[in-house]
Formats: sequence, structure tokens, C-alpha cells
Amino acid sequence: MFDLTGRTALVTGGGRGVGAAIAATLAARGAAVAVNDLIAHRAESTAAALRTHGGRAVAVPFDITDGDAVDAGVADAVAALGRPIDILVNNAGPPAGMTTTPFREMTPTEWQPFVDINLYGSLHCIRSVIDPMVAAGHGRILQISSGAARTGIAFGVSLYGASKSGIEGFIRHLSQELAPTGVTANVLALGLLSNAVPEGTPDGAVTALTASIPVGRLGQPDDVAAAALYLVSDEASWMTGQTISLNGGSTTN
Ligand SMILES: NC(=O)c1ccc[n+]([C@@H]2O[C@H](COP(=O)([O-])OP(=O)(O)OC[C@H]3O[C@@H](n4cnc5c(N)ncnc54)[C@H](O)[C@@H]3O)[C@@H](O)[C@H]2O)c1
Repeated sequence: MFDLTGRTALVTGGGRGVGAAIAATLAARGAAVAVNDLIAHRAESTAAALRTHGGRAVAVPFDITDGDAVDAGVADAVAALGRPIDILVNNAGPPAGMTTTPFREMTPTEWQPFVDINLYGSLHCIRSVIDPMVAAGHGRILQISSGAARTGIAFGVSLYGASKSGIEGFIRHLSQELAPTGVTANVLALGLLSNAVPEGTPDGAVTALTASIPVGRLGQPDDVAAAALYLVSDEASWMTGQTISLNGGSTTN
């Protein structure tokens, strides 16, 4: 099960964190992986690591918020890997330098990066890969989202959460349009992972964060990669239009 031999995958924001873990897992299962990141050396580093471990991988740095750059990057990936993209993992984000700011202290200019990445960036990538998926009668679209899309938090992440909600809603509709075509579209909504806790965070703060998670630990990027592998596999053909919370039991609906 979960053999991806012969499949091609594009993982956005794959230069580190969750995206790098997903890219490594898909490559280990036989997929040829195009590793995207805004920061070229990150994409190249992940792709090189995958090749070192025997995988097939290329780096395709581009900014997902730039539709023309997305189309050019996808074309580069398809040329390098020799076939269209079968699996898209929309993971890139959050915006570089994201700060937590209460809504009343934000200006409209500060709303924009969240909408640009989480909504438009994801849409650009989907639009760029979707037609060959439909023509092939097979495809997998996996959107990485956040619990902040469905749960209000007084933590200064309102625009982050709102833009993740937007793409979750879009994926639900897209899944229905695509259901007869063999292309699925699902969302993984993540809770707090270890890589989001800045180096140097006081032990007491980490302990408090961990205590808020019923299973008693922060998530790891590999927890996400394991769930992603199922959702992009051939075996998940009956799973579409779903938002799955992956959060150590922090929410149960
Ligand atoms: N880590 C968590 O606790 C957590 C929790 C909930 C949701 N998420 C979601 O998981 C995903 C990955 O998060 P992460 O923790 O690995 O983040 P990260 O910052 O460690 O890695 C994200 C990567 O995306 C890249 N990126 C940013 N903007 C980009 C753009 N415009 N085009 C291309 N690449 C871009 C960055 O350069 C970076 O390498 C994000 O969608 C995030 O919202 C993470």
C-alpha cells in the first residue's frame, strides 16, 4: 500500500519544516518530487537530501503568489521530471516574518500577505496543475491548513485563520467539481508543531503549550507527512472534500 512509484509530486514550501518532511516521505515511497520554495537554497537543499537518500527530486524555486512564476515553475518541474504533476501539496506559508497582531492593530496592507499566500497562492498552484490531472483521470490535491481556520483564538492570527478558512471552503467546492474525474482534494488542518516554537522559547512556555495538547506532545512534521502520504495515495480514491484535523486531540469536531 501507499506505493507512489511512477507518480510525480509538487510540494510547495518544501524547503524546510512540514513541506520538507512531506517531500521526503513521498520520495521515499517512490514519487519523483519537485521541491518548491520561495528561497531557492532551501528548495535545493531539500531536493539534494532526497537524492542523497536515493530519491528522484528537483528544486523549482518560485513565489506561489505570482501566477506567471507558478506556471513557469510547474513547466520546469514537468520538463525535469518528464511527466505532468500527479500530486500537488499546497503547503507553502506562512508569510515570511509573520507576526501575531490583534486585528484592531492591523492595517489593510498587513492583511494582504495572508490572503496572497493562503488563498491566491494555493489557487495559482491548483490552476497550474489541474487540467493534466483531469485529462489523466487521476490526481491528488492536498491543502495544508491550520486549526486557526475553524477555531477562534485570541492570539493575533485572525487574518491567518481567515485566509486558511477561505482556502478550506474553496477545496470543499473544488472536490465536488472534480469528484467524477478521479482527482481528489482534501485538507489537513494542523495543530501546533514543534518546528513553530522558536529556538530559545522558555521551557515553561513549551511545557504550557504541550499541556494544552491531549496526547501530551507537540506535533512533528513527520506526523503530517504520514497523514499526507495516505491522502495522496492511490488507496485514498474514496476520500475527497474532507478537512482532517491533525492536532493531538486538541479539537474533536
Ligand atoms: N508548524 C506549525 O505548527 C503549523 C501549524 C498549523 C499550520 N501550519 C501550516 O503548515 C504549513 C508549513 O508550515 P511550516 O511550519 O513548515 O512553515 P516553515 O516556515 O517552517 O516553512 C514554510 C516554507 O514555505 C516557504 N514559503 C513561504 N512563502 C512562500 C511563497 N510565497 N512561495 C513559496 N514558498 C514560500 C518558506 O520559505 C518556508 O521554507 C503552512 O501552510 C502553515 O500555515 C503549520
